[in-house]
Amino acid sequence: MLILYFSRSGNTRAVAEQIHGRIGGQMIELKTVVPYPADYDALVEQAQREQKSNARPRIATEIPNLEKYDIIFIGFPNWWGTMPMPLFTLLEKYDVGNRSIIPFCTHEGSRFGRSRRDIETLCPRARLLEGFEARGSRAAGAQENVDAWLRRLGLLNA
Ligand SMILES: Cc1cc2nc3c(=O)[nH]c(=O)nc-3n(C[C@H](O)[C@H](O)[C@H](O)COP(=O)(O)O)c2cc1C
Repeated sequence: MLILYFSRSGNTRAVAEQIHGRIGGQMIELKTVVPYPADYDALVEQAQREQKSNARPRIATEIPNLEKYDIIFIGFPNWWGTMPMPLFTLLEKYDVGNRSIIPFCTHEGSRFGRSRRDIETLCPRARLLEGFEARGSRAAGAQENVDAWLRRLGLLNA
């Protein structure tokens, strides 16, 4: 299993670590070539600009041997209603084929927004399984809910 995630302020990373702590697998953090601004207002503005222009920010992360994974977790914060654009770069660059994708996201109220539909468009042959969402402020305390979700997916025994 591959647990791939993007996280700027750590909320999504916390969920990724909770998943990894229970089921193991390979954990990879998606990084961009040009880091996002530390200043929050500048970040919000840049993220919106990237989305409006349908940008594909360059990514610095390589995923060796994607074909060896059966299940790919993809984690991200909701940015302006969907995934941050570097996830679009990633899912266009790598062909996940008919593998299973399990999305997870943190947000401040919008849950998955349009992101599941966007994943379906980017990965038309993939099997998109039940995802997990949590408010960013609750991410650090989400382990119990993460466990219940992993059990529903059949990835964690009672
Ligand atoms: C650029 C930007 C845009 C955001 N847009 C939304 C949004 O549309 N809906 C929402 O519920 N939360 C939005 N948020 C809040 C984040 O999704 C939330 O804080 C998340 O937990 C951050 O995850 P991270 O710590 O892994 O980066 C946005 C945050 C940023 C920085």
